[in-house]
Amino acid sequence: MKLKEKIKAELERYGGGILDSEEMRLASGQTHHTRSTVAEHTRRVAENSLAICHALNMLGIATDRKAVVEGALCHDLGILGRDEKYENEQECYRRHADDSVEVARKLLDDLPEKTKDIIERHMWPTAGSRRPSHLEGFIVSAADKAAAVEDIIVGSRLKPADLRTTLRNIAERRRRRAWKTKKR
Ligand SMILES: [Fe+2]
Ligand SMILES: [Fe+2]
Repeated sequence: MKLKEKIKAELERYGGGILDSEEMRLASGQTHHTRSTVAEHTRRVAENSLAICHALNMLGIATDRKAVVEGALCHDLGILGRDEKYENEQECYRRHADDSVEVARKLLDDLPEKTKDIIERHMWPTAGSRRPSHLEGFIVSAADKAAAVEDIIVGSRLKPADLRTTLRNIAERRRRRAWKTKKR
């Protein structure tokens, strides 16, 4: 089975109930990070988190994929109804993680401590969030930041090729500077 198929199967196995929920249906109608919906974003974070789990597995590092999928799919569901719920962006930024924990409590029969921690601390290292207590929390937090950065880059119409050129130019300038210093 190819990695993509494995990830799809695991997403269904561990997150089928959440994906079929009314909350997820509502999430597909609310935009997030300008170019995605909350549903697309949470699904992407879950898929990328699973991809990280598979890579870690190849290095002999075991991860709790059920916690990763449930945590990733729920991590931003508290943001639903953002405009009515929060006074401003800052309040949304600070409070949505805790509100997502409440949504997870509703969607899951029992909310394990690890899954709660993943959701509650997913904003780390921003928004004054505490550091995740488990490896799975770091995975979801990193996948979440990567998805947000991707949305910002695509949203700003800065093409990956432009980004590559910019990074190459920075590296080239550094190399020249280091060479000049050596010559002195
Ligand atoms: Fe978030
Ligand atoms: Fe997120």
